[in-house]
Amino acid sequence: MKFFIDTANLAAIEEANSLGVLDGVTTNPSLMAKEGISGKENIISHYKKICEIVDGDISAEVLSTTFEEMIKEGEELAALHPNIVVKIPMIKDGVKAIKYFSQKGIRTNCTLIFSPGQALLAAKAGASYVSPFLGRLDDISTDGLHLIEEIRLIFDNYGYETEILAASIRHSMHIINCAKIGADVVTCPLQPILSLLNHPLTDNGLAQFIKDSQKMI
Ligand code: G3P
Repeated sequence: MKFFIDTANLAAIEEANSLGVLDGVTTNPSLMAKEGISGKENIISHYKKICEIVDGDISAEVLSTTFEEMIKEGEELAALHPNIVVKIPMIKDGVKAIKYFSQKGIRTNCTLIFSPGQALLAAKAGASYVSPFLGRLDDISTDGLHLIEEIRLIFDNYGYETEILAASIRHSMHIINCAKIGADVVTCPLQPILSLLNHPLTDNGLAQFIKDSQKMI
């Protein structure tokens, strides 16, 4: 399973990358705005900086919602770097744009997926990734993990190559459960990834090893 980091914060991206287990980055307009990135030049320069840090797929989201505008914006984003994946919202014009881009060989990530039908439509249009939002479904008392299971079943039934990019991951158990279900990718902030490190028996065991190692010196 691939690990992407879901942030536009360059320091967090660098820290995650230094772990050696990072496969890519996802961003969205909210995450970019949180870093104070605004204006076309700054947006483009920020994506270029991310591409310089991480050698993996970098999702860059279009800000427009009409077919024509998404095509123009997406083509500009894709031209920035071969690792850029154009992130497109799950709307009617978005599906058309995904189809257009897939015919042009431009990779896409269809975002804001909350149902198996939306994932199926995006896969049929040729999306490289679909991004179901687990945490936001959990937030409204709906089982986000069940959506990942349903999409996995559908994609496997028909051999869709579209990768399931589990997003809106809030904690380490989301990561573990996504791995059990067979999500292709999880994207999350750095903390849930770092939480995978922790076990009290590891800490106790290491403390004992360090203590005993003094007897060996
Ligand atoms: O990649 C989508 C993600 O950023 C949404 O996460 O925590 O805002 O629901 P969250």
